[in-house]
Amino acid sequence: MTRFTPGARYDGGTRFFHWLVVLLFLAQIPAGVAMIVPAQVGEFQALPGVEQSTIDTLYILHKGLGAILIAVIFARVAWRVTHRSPPLPNTIPELERRIAKATHASLYVLMVLMVVTGYIHVIGLGFPIELLDALGVPPLIPRMERLAVISSFVHRATAFLLVSLVGVHVGEVLRHHFVLKDGVLGRMWPPIGGGPAQPMDPGPEEPRAVPPSTFDSSSR
Ligand code: HEM
Ligand code: HEM
Repeated sequence: MTRFTPGARYDGGTRFFHWLVVLLFLAQIPAGVAMIVPAQVGEFQALPGVEQSTIDTLYILHKGLGAILIAVIFARVAWRVTHRSPPLPNTIPELERRIAKATHASLYVLMVLMVVTGYIHVIGLGFPIELLDALGVPPLIPRMERLAVISSFVHRATAFLLVSLVGVHVGEVLRHHFVLKDGVLGRMWPPIGGGPAQPMDPGPEEPRAVPPSTFDSSSR
């Protein structure tokens, strides 16, 4: 059985991507919600001082950040499939470890779904993504309105699911940090640097079939 070393943490790339996505989400979600409020309420008077130009700016910001997120999230997934994560502490029961793994996998699926549906929604309806246009990146898909409308619905539903699951995820991390104090937050912190990931303790040595020789160099 493998024992847990409190210092065992994720590699630098995983930690960097994790906190970069957290930062981008903190801007992306409020921008996404704010830009659709007038459309939902039906009139701008409901939001005193908010002009169409403000909404347009939010859309441009959300689509630009979204384009950055497309690249970041695909790079993050590529990194994740090519790098192992450190095993969770043995102090965490098996069932909880499985739930944590399933939650993390679901977060990856929802992140991908979020950016893909956002992109199909915009490009499928023939709207521009100003940042990609400025960078000379052509649309990667043709205009397809039916799929774009479905994507818009999926984007919205996914946003709710993702925000809820992130809430559960952060709640669990805080419970581990403040109540159980088992060093789980330290596995994903700091975002940059912090030295190499600590090696895992390989656990108690297998009992040796033959006693060490008196001439064993390690005993001198
Ligand atoms: C992980 C990345 C993303 C997050 C967390 C996110 C989040 C959101 C949220 C919370 C909303 C409002 C939800 C609603 O419609 O009720 C929204 C709407 C929207 N998002 Fe995103 N988004 C992301 C990526 C993208 C991308 C990549 C694009 C396109 C390039 C995009 C384009 C849009 C558009 C056009 C809307 C308005 C939908 C409508 O008018 O119904 N999003 N997004
Ligand atoms: C302030 C907010 C957040 C905190 C404090 C936090 C903290 C953590 C910690 C400590 C871990 C490591 C868990 C472990 O020991 O295995 C982790 C993993 C993870 N977090 Fe977060 N997180 C936050 C927000 C987010 C957000 C917004 C997302 C994405 C939407 C996210 C996605 C993930 C994923 C996918 C993993 C698993 C990493 C892997 O195994 O590849 N987290 N998070």
